[in-house]
Amino acid sequence: MNPVSERDALLVGLDPAWSAGDPARLVPDDTARAAELNAREPALGEAYRRWAGALAGAPDVKSLHERQVAVLGRERGVLKLALGELGKLPAEERRARGAGLNAMRLGLEAVVEARRAELERETEAKAAAGLDVTLPGRRPWIGKAHVLAQVQADLLDLFHGLGYSVYTSPEVEWDEYNFTKLNFAQDHPARDAHDTYWIREGSTLLRTHTSPGWVRAMEERKPPLRLVFPGRVYRAEQVDASHMDQFHQIDGLFVDQDVSMADLKGTLATFARAIYGPKVRTRLVPVYFPFVEPGCQLDIACAICDGQGKIANGSRCPVCKGSGWSELLGAGMVHPNVFRAVGYDPEVVTGFAFGMGLERIAMARYGVPEIRLFLENDIRFLHQF
Ligand code: PHE
Repeated sequence: MNPVSERDALLVGLDPAWSAGDPARLVPDDTARAAELNAREPALGEAYRRWAGALAGAPDVKSLHERQVAVLGRERGVLKLALGELGKLPAEERRARGAGLNAMRLGLEAVVEARRAELERETEAKAAAGLDVTLPGRRPWIGKAHVLAQVQADLLDLFHGLGYSVYTSPEVEWDEYNFTKLNFAQDHPARDAHDTYWIREGSTLLRTHTSPGWVRAMEERKPPLRLVFPGRVYRAEQVDASHMDQFHQIDGLFVDQDVSMADLKGTLATFARAIYGPKVRTRLVPVYFPFVEPGCQLDIACAICDGQGKIANGSRCPVCKGSGWSELLGAGMVHPNVFRAVGYDPEVVTGFAFGMGLERIAMARYGVPEIRLFLENDIRFLHQF
């Protein structure tokens, strides 16, 4: 009886295509082991030659695994079945065959590992060979400035041309700079108008406007001054399509002797024409801000209804709500109390200031209907600018 070749028949039954083995695949180590097994028992040598050949000849990782299970599998592998036949043999034959089968197992496991490593190397080599350096390259993503950064850069460029330079100041600010030195009385209702994110109630806060920069600049420097103050500001607003609790402003400050409201008006008109074109119509309307006197706002004729307040069908313009104007920025002559607070003599120096919201300007310029888009960082939105 020859249990090995009997069991080997099972293997042949599994898949005749490969179970015959591929002796050409055997390396000298395998041949040596086959010879050694042959010396123990010719049937073992023969079985080893075939199974090792079958494993070494597996064409890919998947079939290697199938063959490994068929030959070496712990439940149904032919080797396991051959071991199961041992009990039928007389004692010393059993010992000899058992040792032979064990040597076979070790040899076959080595063949599996060698073939696996070889297949992996082949896969890598194929992938590398698939690299065609003559194909056109993939275009890399090219970043660009955020739309608000673009608008800010345009405005700073414009003011640079008018002789202003940039002054930046902290986003976390003292109450004193954000309010007190800007002439907000301690219990002034205007203090509530800036719904404030406090860091420490009454002492530090997230700045509600960029105007505290004026105070810092004036405390640091002597007049004359011509400065712009760009930056992010915070207000505890109810968020909706046109309000956010953080946004951007640019303030401007011009301090010298004999500065007049006419200088302010001329500067604002130049600014409005530069961003909305030479035909833009503007007006100044008196408004209260504690840090300027007189204070005003600059309105431009509504771009939607051309200042008529009505649209083509005669109904009320939805954008300016029938007024014909839309507010662009706040401005005014610097209040004497602000000069006093920074140690300037209001009898000697005069000045004007203005402050505008970047989001509002960008929305008007590009027809953006929703302020939250600026902060969402959706590439589909940002890529349009
Ligand atoms: N700081 C004011 C605000 O945030 C704007 C402003 C600036 C008004 C300068 C007048 C002069 O509302």
